[in-house]
Amino acid sequence: MGKGIADSVLDAIGDTPIVRLSRLEPDLDRELLVKLELLNPGGSHKVRIALNMILEAEKDGELVRGSGQTIIESTGGNTGIGLAMAAAILGYRLVLVIPDNYSPAKQRLLRGYGAEVRLSDHTLGNNSHADMALGLLFDNPDWVMLNQQANPANPAIHERTTAVEIMDALGPRLPDALVAGVGTGGHITGVGRVLAEHQPSLRIVAVQPEGCSLRENRFVTHPIQGLAVGLVPAVLDLGLVSDEEQVSFEDARRMMRRVMRTEGLAVGISSAANLVAACRVARALPAGSRVLTFAYDGVHDYLDALPDEDVAFAEGSLAGEAR
Ligand SMILES: Cc1ncc(COP(=O)(O)O)c(C=O)c1O
Repeated sequence: MGKGIADSVLDAIGDTPIVRLSRLEPDLDRELLVKLELLNPGGSHKVRIALNMILEAEKDGELVRGSGQTIIESTGGNTGIGLAMAAAILGYRLVLVIPDNYSPAKQRLLRGYGAEVRLSDHTLGNNSHADMALGLLFDNPDWVMLNQQANPANPAIHERTTAVEIMDALGPRLPDALVAGVGTGGHITGVGRVLAEHQPSLRIVAVQPEGCSLRENRFVTHPIQGLAVGLVPAVLDLGLVSDEEQVSFEDARRMMRRVMRTEGLAVGISSAANLVAACRVARALPAGSRVLTFAYDGVHDYLDALPDEDVAFAEGSLAGEAR
């Protein structure tokens, strides 16, 4: 993101701030830093990869800007929003396949950007939308599928932008640990690669929902959207990962409220899981250590998960929560 005036919202992607969280755990005695990716246009880190996958496909001649060619992807999440934004600006038709149990509000949002939403029958299994998208691609061989789980343009943009922004912001004092949720593995791989090159002692910690393990190739269905897609994705460099931290939905949802009340920061459920894990990782490191994590998106899509009891802050009722 340059200073001055951006030519489109796509030129306003990136350069997100890093904030020190000193109120979340006042006695922590370690530095907890969070990169606010939720401040990207479209509201998440995934807009970076959505745009880059399109730009790389244009370089390869697979996509021609302004041609109205059809891009098909099976995601209604943050990548879908990023693709919808980029497709609207760059002149592509976008077909997004999402399970039919997705919220109508999300479907409306994607249609608002001009994307065409096709619904798969979620009762056919976790991958109903991916299967349907492959079927549509088979029937329409001129359509282009970007496939974020296997596309090297996904980690590459985090190497080229997210990691560089972190290096610029932190200067010579790089983090002792990087704590990152893994969905496609794009940002942990891209950022992890660059930081580990400059800081060989860096601990790179993958955050997974309780019951899931990348190392053991073990996955369960879980409610922490964005994390653990049910397989070890092709773009994830598992060799970079030093440890895994499993976080329960309950701990993550309590952290959502805790970080709102202590830091005034309203984040989504996967970002809250990162913060739970980051606190644990920080405590296991020597005093004075620096831990970096990410806030991927905001709380708005996850309000149903936010604990809603009217608990007074002054009663000290936060003590012990999500610790
Ligand atoms: C909310 C949220 N959190 C975490 C992730 C994981 O990011 P990555 O795909 O780079 O591993 C995603 C990915 O879609 C996401 O949407």
